[in-house]
Amino acid sequence: MSTNALEMYREYIEDLYGGRSALRQKEFVSKTEWKNFVPVVEDDSARLLQLLLRMKKPERILEIGTSIGFSATSMALVAREYGGKITTVEVDADAAEQAKRNFERSGVDDIVQIQFGDARQIIPALPDSSFDLIFQDADKRLYPALLNDCIRILKTGGIFIADDTLFPAMELDPKWDGQVKAVREFNRRVTAAPGLESTLLPIGDGMTVAVKK
Ligand SMILES: C[S@@+](CC[C@H](N)C(=O)[O-])C[C@H]1O[C@@H](n2cnc3c(N)ncnc32)[C@H](O)[C@@H]1O
Repeated sequence: MSTNALEMYREYIEDLYGGRSALRQKEFVSKTEWKNFVPVVEDDSARLLQLLLRMKKPERILEIGTSIGFSATSMALVAREYGGKITTVEVDADAAEQAKRNFERSGVDDIVQIQFGDARQIIPALPDSSFDLIFQDADKRLYPALLNDCIRILKTGGIFIADDTLFPAMELDPKWDGQVKAVREFNRRVTAAPGLESTLLPIGDGMTVAVKK
């Protein structure tokens, strides 16, 4: 599928669903004071996260990579309805500070807790089977390195989601080569993992959705 075709699909989907989202990425970003952040998920990806939460009602949610907190806020608005809680890990102090302000502004600061620090230290230290849903959206080079720990800390029947997993199929600037290589390796390991049932959806820049068997 060409990047152009993907763009056309995205526009059509946005025309259909854009007006129905209570929280829009553009608006969320425009209200954010600090602008030097790593990009956040697209509206269609946020809708998928919300839909999965509504279907599964995961009580304990872990996000790896907060940025300014758009995806965490999107999930929190649904998690609040059934009593779910989110922990989100961020290594950049400015991003974590801005996310905190955004959670307060959106009224979800009682649902989302930011864990400031490096996921490479934090995730391996978490106990087995402690989360019902994990959303991996940090630096792509962390994806293969943290995959086994993500599976370990996920409960059986829990959902694992990873963003940007279509990077290897996209025409990206060579400066992204390191990230692309990591995602290629991650995708290979996910599809080979006996403990996961998964698929890769062409939403945003690709979203892998898996369940722990
Ligand atoms: C793509 S952004 C996250 C976007 C966010 N999930 C959203 O859609 O609203 C990736 C974030 O991961 C953070 N990050 C990168 N390496 C990290 C690490 N080792 N530990 C924790 N966070 C990390 C970056 O600072 C960045 O803010």
